[in-house]
Amino acid sequence: MGTERVAGSGDALAEGWLSSPVDRIGGRIAVPGDKSISHRALLLGAVAAGPLEVDGFLDSDDCRATRAAVKALGVRVESLDAGRLRVIGPGPRGLHDPAGPLDLGNSGTGIRLLTGLLAGLGIQAELTGDASLRSRPMERVAAPLRQMGANIETDGGRPPLRLGEAGRITAIDYALPVASAQVKSAILLAGLSARGVTVVRQPAVSRDHTERMLQSLGAPVEFDQHRAAVRGPCVLNGGRIGVPGDFSSAAFFLVAGLLRAGEGLLIRGVGMNPTRTGLLDILRAMGGRIEVREPRQLGAEPVADLWVERSPLQGIDVPPELVPLAIDEFPVLFVAAAAAKGRTRVRGAAELRVKESDRIATMARALTGLGVRLRETDDGIDIEGGPISAGTVDSAGDHRVAMSMAVAGLVAAGQIRIGDVRHVGTSFPGFADLARSAGFGLEDSP
Ligand code: S3P
Repeated sequence: MGTERVAGSGDALAEGWLSSPVDRIGGRIAVPGDKSISHRALLLGAVAAGPLEVDGFLDSDDCRATRAAVKALGVRVESLDAGRLRVIGPGPRGLHDPAGPLDLGNSGTGIRLLTGLLAGLGIQAELTGDASLRSRPMERVAAPLRQMGANIETDGGRPPLRLGEAGRITAIDYALPVASAQVKSAILLAGLSARGVTVVRQPAVSRDHTERMLQSLGAPVEFDQHRAAVRGPCVLNGGRIGVPGDFSSAAFFLVAGLLRAGEGLLIRGVGMNPTRTGLLDILRAMGGRIEVREPRQLGAEPVADLWVERSPLQGIDVPPELVPLAIDEFPVLFVAAAAAKGRTRVRGAAELRVKESDRIATMARALTGLGVRLRETDDGIDIEGGPISAGTVDSAGDHRVAMSMAVAGLVAAGQIRIGDVRHVGTSFPGFADLARSAGFGLEDSP
């Protein structure tokens, strides 16, 4: 077997890409660290009693924005060798008000989790972001945090969020109206400072990285599929966190492999937290041959190597209970559906409309422009598998849409020109280089 390719930090400057059809991709690759876990390591390290060493940190634009924000609150973050960081907070309750607004860039995770953490600590701050983030709903975190006693204003429900002077936060028992790990985490992080047990109940399972990391840093948390609870006030220990490869980044290569890895493709060290791997079940139900190899544990998180082989795909009705477990993978799943035989039907996915872009609309527009037959609904889409034509698509500044269209180019009738790909660095610095090393026909274009 050849050498393993690991994502570097190239391609941030390309404005667009040209993705050309190829007969075969393959080899051995590793994707960068998990975005959700990297954010949480910075935020929990910021309030831990001792230094937190983070191995495999994702150095992406989103995580850099969170890193800059915690620095502005009095936290030291030291870069060690490649992918390793040390987060040294000023001790529990030692964070100070920032001198200016905190800019979380494109990151919903950064702004929502930080709001919860700061609300608990009584920090006064303004939190904002780029144009995409400033259009995203924030009342979903502001409302429960107000119930806990925080003083939070939004701009018509969107950022900037303003945290003002407030009394001490109290524990609540809160039922989430939608399954959202960001909202659940914001409440739990505020709950670290509240006296009593803060409980969050969820209508469906959402990712549980916060709960796992809190537990590994010594917090009194309990969690299962329906609820998570933390007893406050509590102080976190420092220590070490290993960050697995991001399943959501591996997803592009899983679909690419199913479409074109005639002799297989191995993706090493991928996070396999069961609250994240819904796409694996969906792709297997479509006929995808994917093997989970060498399952192992990296601290609180399971990881494995994934072996994927070219497979004929069949459209399916996506089981609604898998939707929150695959929420970031729908753009690339839509590409798999377009390349499959028959119809794929997705429902119960209205949350896709409030991601970095309206991902139902952005993907529907892009795929329709490539001749794919589909029908959008309020909370989903029906996609008819068939030929994908050459053409030009707009990623609407959405990192996952841009990478999904690069995968579509593998099987299109000719070149796909993808505009506005600079946001790929949000989650996957080095994507284009890694894709080329696996055999994609991907060129930078002005
Ligand atoms: C995330 C949770 C998800 C996901 C996002 C990252 C997290 O959002 O879409 O990319 O790190 O908690 P919601 O929890 O709002 O669904």
